[in-house]
Amino acid sequence: MKIRTIRAKIIFLFVVIFGLTLSLFSGALYYLYARQSAQNFDLNLSNDALAIVGMVKGDSFLEQEIISGLIQQPLRPNLGTNRYVQVVSITGNVIIRSSNMKEAGLPITTDVLTLALSHHQVFETLDKRTTKALIGGGRLRMVTYPVFDDLVPRYLVQVAASTTSLDDNMFELRLLLFISVPLTILAAALGGLFLAKKAFDPIDRIIRTAQSISAEHLDKRLDTGKVDDEVTRLSRTLNDMFDRIEEAFRLQKQFTADASHELKTPLTILLGEMEVALANPRTSEDYVGTLKSAVEEIRRITKIVDELLTIARLESGQLRLQKLPVRLDELLLDAVSKTSAYASKRSISISFEVRNQSNGDDEEIMIAGDEDKLLSVFINLLDNAVKYSDDNSSIRVVQTTGNNSAIVEISDNGVGITKEDLPHVFDRFYRADKSRSSAGNRSGTGLGLPISKYLIEALGGSISIKSEAGAGTTVTVKLPIMLPAGTSSL
Ligand SMILES: Nc1ncnc2c1ncn2[C@@H]1O[C@H](COP(=O)(O)OP(=O)(O)O)[C@@H](O)[C@H]1O
Ligand SMILES: [Mg+2]
Repeated sequence: MKIRTIRAKIIFLFVVIFGLTLSLFSGALYYLYARQSAQNFDLNLSNDALAIVGMVKGDSFLEQEIISGLIQQPLRPNLGTNRYVQVVSITGNVIIRSSNMKEAGLPITTDVLTLALSHHQVFETLDKRTTKALIGGGRLRMVTYPVFDDLVPRYLVQVAASTTSLDDNMFELRLLLFISVPLTILAAALGGLFLAKKAFDPIDRIIRTAQSISAEHLDKRLDTGKVDDEVTRLSRTLNDMFDRIEEAFRLQKQFTADASHELKTPLTILLGEMEVALANPRTSEDYVGTLKSAVEEIRRITKIVDELLTIARLESGQLRLQKLPVRLDELLLDAVSKTSAYASKRSISISFEVRNQSNGDDEEIMIAGDEDKLLSVFINLLDNAVKYSDDNSSIRVVQTTGNNSAIVEISDNGVGITKEDLPHVFDRFYRADKSRSSAGNRSGTGLGLPISKYLIEALGGSISIKSEAGAGTTVTVKLPIMLPAGTSSL
């Protein structure tokens, strides 16, 4: 059987550990108590035997009558009536035997005799069979004590006592332990069950609620109690996770909706124009005009699809960015010249300047990057600057360094971005001008900045925008400088 719940495991382990400990403890207690009782028993027997030895050695020894009279009465408190006493000579003649015994006397085996003769007191336990003829059954414990007279063995003093009360005591103790130990373990298991249930109830509640939070009910949250315990922290952590999942779901939905919308607009225009052109016979100029417009819309669709693909590749990690040395000033110059042609149509000038390079004027700043991607990023930023500037204005591109980074600032005096829009310009499909006109100077998809940000960050850099509505915008890109080999970073 496999234990599947933590609760069951804990109870199982608890019962096993507790049961083993209690059993070991009880066993040790029983063993020590039994040994101590047996030792006490033997000590009493031995003391009684010694008392008789003292008498046997005394002068009055021969006065058997007196001795036997004494033996039949308690000699000492612990030599009670349940003592069986016998004194035999070495030759085997019984000299005294207490009257509470039947005809058969206490047995003396040769082994015991041998041991006793070498100055040992010998303890024996006599079983029921041996004691049958003696006292009619029951276990006896017996000590055989040798008496020497000038190193000559003369007598053996034997004292025996029934172990019934001792055996009864031990039996009662065993019974007590055999009943109380399992009962205690059972009680502990029940207690453990109760405690584990109490401890795991909140977890069960969390499981039930978490199960009910599905893609459809992502707004549900777990209860977080007032106390700051582990369960509350778990609930809070899970709630935070649900928040993130909900947000991810929302973004995904939004992305799909926005992407469809972005594609639908040019497709609708395309379809409309084509249908109009086909409705009646047209002059060839009309057809050329329609085709030109169609090409423009298809370009726009292609651009959106390209950008969507880039985003998809970036997010799935399929787009690998090279990190080769790129000369930044040349790259920027390239981007400026590519945008200038388009800007000059609206009499917008773009200036480029490399300022206060810390490592000497002639040293070119190199960065590690993917030249194509970096070029597209800066063209994108310049394109924005041109797009959102008025005619006859100027745009400045400044390259500086600081903190081991190359810094590129692209500033314009264009329409700027309002405070409300500023935090969102890096969101996909976000465009501040709500008209979202697909035609005209300010056409766009709202994907340029998010892609730029993604690329710049993938190269270890950062991008930020400062802007004031009506006054202009400055986009700052920071990229880590690639140090020439052998140069320390100091
Ligand atoms: N230089 C700028 N001046 C004013 N607004 C800007 C500038 N650059 C970006 N924006 C705003 O940020 C939005 C997002 O930019 P972007 O992601 O490049 O999308 P797009 O250029 O396709 O509109 C733009 O729609 C515009 O509202
Ligand atoms: Mg753009």
